[in-house]
Order: sequence, then structure tokens, then C-alpha cells
Amino acid sequence: MSAEKIFDQAKDFLPILGIDYIEFYVGNAKQSAFFYKTALGFESEAYSGLETGDNSKVSYVIRQEKIRFVLTSSYVKNSEINEHYLAHGDGVKVVAFLVEDSKKSYDETIRRGAKSYLEPTKSEDKDGFIIQSGIYTYGETVHLFIERKNYNGVFLPGFKELENTYSPDPIGLKYVDHVVGNVGWNEMDKWCSFYRDVLGFTQIVSFDDNDISTEYTALMSKVMSNGNGRVKFPINEPAEGLNKSQIEEYLDFYNGPGVQHLALATDDIIMTVSEMKNRGIEFLYVPETYYDDLTDRVGDIVEDVELLRKNGILIDRDDDGYLLQIFTKPLVDRPTIFFEIIQRRGANSFGKGNFKALFLAIEREQRNRGTL
Ligand code: FE2
Repeated sequence: MSAEKIFDQAKDFLPILGIDYIEFYVGNAKQSAFFYKTALGFESEAYSGLETGDNSKVSYVIRQEKIRFVLTSSYVKNSEINEHYLAHGDGVKVVAFLVEDSKKSYDETIRRGAKSYLEPTKSEDKDGFIIQSGIYTYGETVHLFIERKNYNGVFLPGFKELENTYSPDPIGLKYVDHVVGNVGWNEMDKWCSFYRDVLGFTQIVSFDDNDISTEYTALMSKVMSNGNGRVKFPINEPAEGLNKSQIEEYLDFYNGPGVQHLALATDDIIMTVSEMKNRGIEFLYVPETYYDDLTDRVGDIVEDVELLRKNGILIDRDDDGYLLQIFTKPLVDRPTIFFEIIQRRGANSFGKGNFKALFLAIEREQRNRGTL
């Protein structure tokens, strides 16, 4: 390891070991869990609710490889969960980081200006203890710092293992590649500074409206990454176009900033996507002409272009290799959160060469919704 690397690590005041889980506040956790299991091949991991002594809320924890989702609903009328649900519909509340030291993570970020969501809190049962703490990020979204090195139980204290009586086959999803946030007009730089100054992230990419505008829709985007590169957060803001930007549509329906999409990585995108289609997931449609000049644009690729065309999978190349990606339609009633499925073959970028084709596809959907 080079001296520079050692110095960098010593400088990293917030070493993040990875994304521990992503929690959605939803209207009906049981049915959401069923949806993600059925359509995306997640497995049940844990549960808390009435049966475990929680009279206020219910959570289903589901998992596929390194991706863990928590789906949470409220039993009671007046609760933080229901207020969130009323304002935003089903959406991401928590992006939780796995850390070595939750209190230190909290203290360091609060000292640098973060707004507190949860002070360091210890919870324990017969399997050990967990320390959790949390700070706000954009909108009502929060980051939790989860320290679980002294815990051997299932998920968190208070949860019980959930028996997997219903287990659809997994579809090859491996880990969360990136989490994208939409923020308000002219707020991108503010939130990039937040990730830089408060969490110690660095900016790795920037797109402006010349890169990614069509006649109608425009946005700006910067990608922030933590020190070890395990956590990447692109941040989008709307930009002026002839008509309403997709980011603006999101902000209207979500009632403010929030998580726009989760990119989930696979090693076999053709299998993953065709399986999702078989199970009823809808994707953005890209015209067949997209594939006509594909080889000129991206050079040689391993995959069968016919299969990519059949599944509507997009390809982009950068200096390090190429990537394959596809975007679902919104996964909930409101035109808010969606998923990206991504397979990286060397490329470390985000598919800039596909933005135009994608935005034209999103505009077709916006036109159908009457929100363009
Ligand atoms: Fe993405």
C-alpha cells in the first residue's frame, strides 16, 4: 500500500464499511415485502411487529446477497412513519451505513454541521448489542450509522428470524451500486458540499445540462463518493428546459427532495432483466434504432446484441471499460422512486452516453401522465 493511500485512510474521519440497509416507509409493509420477494427475488430475513411486542410499527427485512431492504409501516394513526407516508407516498426514509464506531461517526458529522436525527442509542438482547445513531440528509431522508460488531442476532435487537415459507428464486442482484437523490432548484451544490464537508466524501463526476438535456427536459448532476468508494451518491437538481424536468415532476409528487433511484448491480444483466420482465416489472422503453449504431458507439462487447435489444438494455463505454444498464418505470403509485439494474464490465461511470435516449423515454412516460 502506498504512503499516499495510508495517509488517505488516516484522514477518513468517517470510514464506511458499506450500506447496511435501505429502509422504505410504505403504506403496507406486508404487501411491499411480498412484491420485492416475488418480482425481484428477495428472501425474508427478519420481522418485527405485534408478534415481537411492537405495537406501533411493523417491519419486514428482506435480503438478496448484500442488498438488504427494510419495509416499515405504522399501526397507529399519528406517527413519524405515517406523516412521512402521507407526504411522500412509499419512499426511502433511511440509507443506513455499516460503521465500526457509531458514536464517533455521529460526533464527527454533528461537529461538522449535520442535523441530528438519532443520538447514539444502544439496544440489546441475548445476542449482544447494537449502537445506532443518525443524521438528516436531503429532504426527510436520513443516514443511520449502524455498529453491529458486538451483535450476533438476526438484523437488530427486537427482530425475530422470519421463516422463508415463500421463496421465489433470486434474480442475481448483488449489491447497491449507487443511490441517487433528487434535490430542489439550485440545491445540488449545497448537498454536494454537505457530503464533502460533513461526511468527507469527494466529487467524482459532474454532468451539466449540455450533457443531459433534451429539447424538453434538463437536469444537473454530480456524483459524490466516500473515501473507499463503497458508497456513491449522485445528486440531481432540475434545470430549465422547455417543459417540466423529470426532477421537477419527482419533487412535485414526492413533496420535496428524496431518493430518486437505487442502482442494483448484477453479474448477468440479461438473466436479471428477463426474469424481472417475466415477473411483471415494467422498464423504460428505448426505440430499437438505439441499437443500430451500437457497435460503432461502444465497440466490441461480450453480450449478444440481439438479446440486449430484445430486453431493451443500454450500453455505454468509458476509459476503463463498459457498462450495461436499464431503468424500471416507477415502482410505486406516484412517479417517484425507480430502480436501475446495472452490470459493470470495467466502467466506473454512470452511463452518460445513454442519458439522451433515456430522457426521451422518460418524456414519453411524462406525456402519458400529463406531467411534461
Ligand atoms: Fe443511476
